[in-house]
Amino acid sequence: MSQHAHIIVLGNEKGGSGKSTTAMHVAVGLLRLGYRVGSIDLDARQGTFSRYMANRFEYSAKERLSLPIPLHFPIERSKADSVIAQEEQDRDFLQMAFEELNPYVDFIVIDTPGSDTFLGQLAHSYADTLITPMNDSFVDLDVLARISPDTKEIKGPSVYTRMVNEQKEIRKARNGESIDWIVMRNRLSSLDAKNKREVGELLQSISEKFGFRLAPGFGERVIFRELFLKGMTLLDLKEAPDHQMTLSAISARQEIRELLRCIAPETLKGYPNKSVNI
Ligand SMILES: Nc1ncnc2c1ncn2[C@@H]1O[C@H](COP(=O)(O)OP(=O)(O)OP(=O)(O)O)[C@@H](O)[C@H]1O
Ligand SMILES: [Mg+2]
Repeated sequence: MSQHAHIIVLGNEKGGSGKSTTAMHVAVGLLRLGYRVGSIDLDARQGTFSRYMANRFEYSAKERLSLPIPLHFPIERSKADSVIAQEEQDRDFLQMAFEELNPYVDFIVIDTPGSDTFLGQLAHSYADTLITPMNDSFVDLDVLARISPDTKEIKGPSVYTRMVNEQKEIRKARNGESIDWIVMRNRLSSLDAKNKREVGELLQSISEKFGFRLAPGFGERVIFRELFLKGMTLLDLKEAPDHQMTLSAISARQEIRELLRCIAPETLKGYPNKSVNI
């Protein structure tokens, strides 16, 4: 499968961790930096990412805004009769989406389902950058590592980490390339400082052991839910007719910029338009 665009996959087998929300913000962030961006929704049955795009399209038209929108492909899981035929069809559809997008984009942002599907796993093996958002709790750490409940000792990789390692191997065997894995904490509470610190410390140890980088993460903010209905992101607020720049929105926007800095698109592709200020 030929690929030239830099592929960013959002993945975590646990549902509701913020994959679709983060995918949208990363895609719009890259567009606002002046890059050409494509997006693929591999969770097209639930369709949050695609609905987010559709909301953006409708809201832009209604308010006569010229919001940047990625070239978007939803891909539904194959419903072929046999597992072999399903996997073949899933492969073909993903390949077709890559081939369609490649000539026109610098980055492809892929949202995956919160469960282990063949299509989701396959996408991981094409990730140049993998971003795993996780809710800030010990329950969610369990997706990454098995932890002893009393001593908080790291006993080994969990199911998702093992899957990522397998896809890393597949990718390496395919063309010698590796996956830059970034884990980010989502919905960080402004309360419960002790829990937050303990999760942070443990995550640091897990990251060293299992080879991912840590991004600072996003706080728990109501604004994320409000923006979805309009298809807006925190990087569009200047153009939103009825949105006020609250302190919370400014901090949230800063958190998105930190994540983009962690992805470091300028070192990956070079800023095509330095004057764009996100
Ligand atoms: N930082 C945040 N603060 C508040 N709400 C958030 C935050 N991040 C995400 N949410 C909300 O949490 C819900 C789940 O987010 P999202 O749909 O992005 O997760 P997901 O990982 O894609 O879920 P799924 O596994 O079901 O696809 C949404 O209602 C979203 O608006
Ligand atoms: Mg989702």
